[in-house]
Amino acid sequence: MTHQDPPIFITFGNRKGGVGKTTSVINLASNLASLGKNILIVDTDPQSNCSSILLNNFDDQTKYSLIDALEAPEGEGLLSKIACNTNNPRIKIIPNTARCMLWERKIAQKPDAVLGISRLINQDTDLISYDFVFFDTPPNLGVMMNNALMASDYVIIPIPPSDQFSLDGLAAYLDLIGSIRKHNDKLQLLAVLITKYDSKWGNSANNLKQITNYFSKKGISIFHTKIHNCPEIDMAHVARKPIFETAPASIGAADYSALGKELLEIFNIIYGGKHF
Ligand SMILES: Nc1ncnc2c1ncn2[C@@H]1O[C@H](COP(=O)(O)OP(=O)(O)O)[C@@H](O)[C@H]1O
Ligand SMILES: [Mg+2]
Repeated sequence: MTHQDPPIFITFGNRKGGVGKTTSVINLASNLASLGKNILIVDTDPQSNCSSILLNNFDDQTKYSLIDALEAPEGEGLLSKIACNTNNPRIKIIPNTARCMLWERKIAQKPDAVLGISRLINQDTDLISYDFVFFDTPPNLGVMMNNALMASDYVIIPIPPSDQFSLDGLAAYLDLIGSIRKHNDKLQLLAVLITKYDSKWGNSANNLKQITNYFSKKGISIFHTKIHNCPEIDMAHVARKPIFETAPASIGAADYSALGKELLEIFNIIYGGKHF
């Protein structure tokens, strides 16, 4: 990327929890960083799993949170200034805290309920030093999901085919993306990401066929790369590290590096080499 180009903003979203949003944000960021990209992760989930795994200094979570930025006086609260260190110099994170839930209630009827993060981005010229901004999102269609989608160029929807509930919630999530697009016309559903895939397990393979049909009828792409079910991913979270550091030979590490490659190929086509 030339540093005149703005970053590409991507929401990882699904109204269901446990589908691999946080895992994908962490490991895809780690892979892209190893390819020389600079990534800012904005943790919009008050459960703050991403923050607790990636923050170098856990005290930063209470000092430099997304909510502090949103509550700062107009013109202050620059995300580029409060971005916290991780143990990878190419990855920074804006942490979240449980205080987010109080903020969401307080802000409910105000413009920031939808436009708060976009407001912070628009006032922040230094974000241009990042290639990507990734939004990790909570498992609901509330204030933070709206904010992330309003500020994004693309959405990636992680879906484990064996999780019926995550499939049941999809129509409502697609409707939300459709209604946000009326206000943010650059937003596109980039692709669905199959996660926790195991052809020998439960309904995984069977449901995958249904998912493929469902999305191809709607003209929505699915990444060629599938993230397989991989027990080492849980272990990496326990160690608070990306899978590349704890189990580089695992299928999970191979899948996330294939996904990074596929993503950059897609953006090369979309931007005709402008960004990369
Ligand atoms: N490919 C995978 N294989 C095995 N376990 C996974 C995989 N992806 C995620 N998990 C596990 O599933 C759980 C939920 O993943 P997470 O990324 O936190 O989902 P979300 O952010 O959507 O709630 C975590 O315990 C995580 O370790
Ligand atoms: Mg999560």
